[in-house]
Amino acid sequence: MTSQHDLHHSADHTPGQEWWRSGVIYQIYPRSFADHTGDGLGDLSGITARLDELQELGIDAVWLSPFMTSPQKDAGYDVADYCDVDPIFGTLEDFDQMLQAAHDRGIRVIVDLVPNHSSDQHEWFQQALAAGPGSTERGRYIFRDGKGQHGEQPPNNWQSIFGGPAWTRVSEADGSPGQWYLHLFDSSQPDFDWSNEEVHEEFRRILRFWLDRGVDGFRVDVAHGLVKDQEFPDYTPDPEAASMGGEQTPAPYFEQPGVHEIYRDWRKVLEEYPGDRALCGEAWVSSVASMAQWVRPDEMHQTFNFEYLLAPWEAGQLRDIIDRSISAFGAVGAPSTWVLSNHDVVRHATRLSLTGENPQGTGIGPDFPGIPEHQDAVRRAQAATALMLALPGSSYIYQGEELGLDEVHDLPDEARQDPTWFRTRGEKYGRDGCRVPIPWEAESPAFGFSSSGKSWLPQPGRWKSLARDVQRQTPGSTLNRYQQLLRLRRELGLGAGALQWAEGWGEGVLAFRNGDALIIANISGSPVELPTGAELLVSSASLIGGKIGPDTTVWLRQ
Ligand code: GLC
Repeated sequence: MTSQHDLHHSADHTPGQEWWRSGVIYQIYPRSFADHTGDGLGDLSGITARLDELQELGIDAVWLSPFMTSPQKDAGYDVADYCDVDPIFGTLEDFDQMLQAAHDRGIRVIVDLVPNHSSDQHEWFQQALAAGPGSTERGRYIFRDGKGQHGEQPPNNWQSIFGGPAWTRVSEADGSPGQWYLHLFDSSQPDFDWSNEEVHEEFRRILRFWLDRGVDGFRVDVAHGLVKDQEFPDYTPDPEAASMGGEQTPAPYFEQPGVHEIYRDWRKVLEEYPGDRALCGEAWVSSVASMAQWVRPDEMHQTFNFEYLLAPWEAGQLRDIIDRSISAFGAVGAPSTWVLSNHDVVRHATRLSLTGENPQGTGIGPDFPGIPEHQDAVRRAQAATALMLALPGSSYIYQGEELGLDEVHDLPDEARQDPTWFRTRGEKYGRDGCRVPIPWEAESPAFGFSSSGKSWLPQPGRWKSLARDVQRQTPGSTLNRYQQLLRLRRELGLGAGALQWAEGWGEGVLAFRNGDALIIANISGSPVELPTGAELLVSSASLIGGKIGPDTTVWLRQ
């Protein structure tokens, strides 16, 4: 076994061969992964208890969504203390044990860092409220006087990403209506003022706190949002665009050039530590060309490729985004990343088969027209995954996709907890449907998620047949295929390879070589002949009469 010591000190960090360039990173959403204490919410000791299953799956690293102290108004993305663990998830000791246990299994651990905003329960924000206008304490957040004769209107027209105004007015100490503070998300998530050096210092301290404990890197939340246009001009986003940004002309609160300085500074902090620690930015920006600016040699190591995630299951568009990604990231010497699902989007086992419009962040509910048949949708999702895992670069997978879990569109209204649902008064369903606790054992309470049978969001009965223990025993199950793909990807060195298109396969078919492997993704509606003399390594679905059926990806050696 590789120990933590080895992971940070072994000679595996030759420039150009660092693990994050080709690694497969598994996103754990802690509250929905495994509940050890039985309160219906997942926890850190639950993760530790399930690491063997992740090792068996064959991933290189895990990224944990936030588990720090938080009132959980936005499922932990509202942090009240960046250097402690929320009691619902356990303690710092539980974290250390989990980290050690992961490292003992050769699995690296990335934690989520939320630098755009804190919780309103953070000590600093409480001090800011108490201290009053013009104080040093208020200077750590974005407080402004309102417009109108008595300051009764917000400073500008910005809307929260979760719906409703992005400004909330406070009452001053004497009870009178006071200033307004900015929150791009929920009113319980005030934005920090990154023009204030004290905020920079604090985050360097927080980075070091977790690096000292031995983490392998950070996923940086809303990495494109920290710096705001200091003129604070009015702005109305395109209602059809992804809620997290990505418009051609960036919003005055996203993609401002000043953010890059912050990550240059953080990179230096990471480089003070031995081993390959990585920063991965959650930056919803307009194109891969701008995304690539986040991963210039002195900035972050990785950024999520959301343009790839948002691409429809269509050969031409997929080929185009794959080409643009490889060339844009290649131009700055960074690997591309690939991702199809996470805790903010409709699971790809549903999304890729939807025919109706579904902008990111909106979610789908029971009334959504045309919910696909599960079997067909999973077949397509598996084909998409087999395509993704064959691409050179690093891939992210989201807990439960290895089980073929679909989006739970039919959650009862009263179960929903996403602030989007509340702030839009039910107009947008939000993201609960991809956050339902995952099934481990078909015959156990809460499908093995929690020994008490509790689950913070209800699990659909249909997930019984998707439980991990059932799939482990079933040849050809989604789980077994993921495991096979991950093993072969490693053996064939696909993550560190290079892509070369193979032409002549006809419309709707993507074919490419990566090292010794030939990959064929059949995105057309008709079967495709296997090339003669090829050895079939893995197929995302059974062949049909010896041919590659529609919505199937095969890996071959020829
Ligand atoms: C990121 C997170 C999302 C969260 C938001 C605010 O987009 O992925 O879950 O709600 O930031 O922190």
